[in-house]
Amino acid sequence: MNGIKIKGTGRCVPAKIVTNGDLAKVVETSDEWITSRTGIRHRHHCTEETHESLCLGAAKAALEKAGIAPEDIGACVVATVTAQSIVPSAACLLQRDLGLPHDIPCFDLNAACTGFLFALHTMECLLAASPRKYGLVVGCDTLSRVTNWEDRGTCILFGDGAGACVVEYREGWPSISAELGTHGSSELLSLPGLETGKRGVIAMEGTKVFKFAVEAVPYCMDRVLEKTGMTAADVDFFVFHQANARIIDLVVRKYRIPPEKYYKNIAEYGNTSAASIPLVLSELQDLEKVGPGSRALVVGFGGGLTWGGALVEFA
Ligand code: COA
Repeated sequence: MNGIKIKGTGRCVPAKIVTNGDLAKVVETSDEWITSRTGIRHRHHCTEETHESLCLGAAKAALEKAGIAPEDIGACVVATVTAQSIVPSAACLLQRDLGLPHDIPCFDLNAACTGFLFALHTMECLLAASPRKYGLVVGCDTLSRVTNWEDRGTCILFGDGAGACVVEYREGWPSISAELGTHGSSELLSLPGLETGKRGVIAMEGTKVFKFAVEAVPYCMDRVLEKTGMTAADVDFFVFHQANARIIDLVVRKYRIPPEKYYKNIAEYGNTSAASIPLVLSELQDLEKVGPGSRALVVGFGGGLTWGGALVEFA
């Protein structure tokens, strides 16, 4: 078996913090409603920062943490639905800004909030075929730019940010055993693109997406555990996409996961889409809740619809 492990993580979030109280001045809502229904207290929104600067900040931090030079990177994938330009892609801008090699693939990938998991799996496949053994995987979204500020059901949920991982591929290391899934549908969650002729905003059937999520997360967990022949007790840490604290609470109760084995940062960032999972991974590494040898079961779900899980080890 051959596979990737996480060598270093990094993150970058905009300086501006938007509180629930701030949003109560824009739409009819309250801190109490948002906190009790979602667990979100703040989110960060870009002002001076750009999608490009967030990607760069997170990627630089991950390279530094990993102790890897840009010239050793063999592929770069940015998971995003909000790149500032379609061409050049966010990954192409990163290639230029970081001075990554020219003879490597750099591209963006859209699987909405599951994007980082899709990108990790893609990276494992890319590195298997590359003479270079390190890869850069970034999740970045600036959802504040595509939020409908007249819809209180969605505008309270989203924030901006970026997280990144430098991964290493080695023969003999276990694969991350990704289990990924897709069900094409625009009914529950959509972000219109070019065909509308105008800049699109997110539309979501929140209650239905909630139902989808509480089924998708256990489904992904079970599939990954089954594939790897492990039980929940073999996992050191559970990393969930941060969309709603209530979704995480339901799952940890179902699997009886103790508080020291999972992490929530949704109160601070809200739902940052593709950045959500790497933001958690980066905070966990900085807090030394995970270290070399730690095994994390990572699970995500999102628009598309898409979902996925993987068992990721730290190098
Ligand atoms: N403030 C105050 N009231 C609000 C509100 C807000 N920000 N947003 C909605 N409401 C109201 C609704 O209008 C509704 O009022 P009504 O009963 O008078 O019609 C009531 O609160 C309940 O709305 P509902 O949409 O059923 O709430 P909910 O409990 O399902 O919570 C979400 C809404 C969006 C927080 C929740 O459904 C959710 O988190 N869904 C999953 C979203 C998700 O994971 N998305 C990302 C996928 S990657």
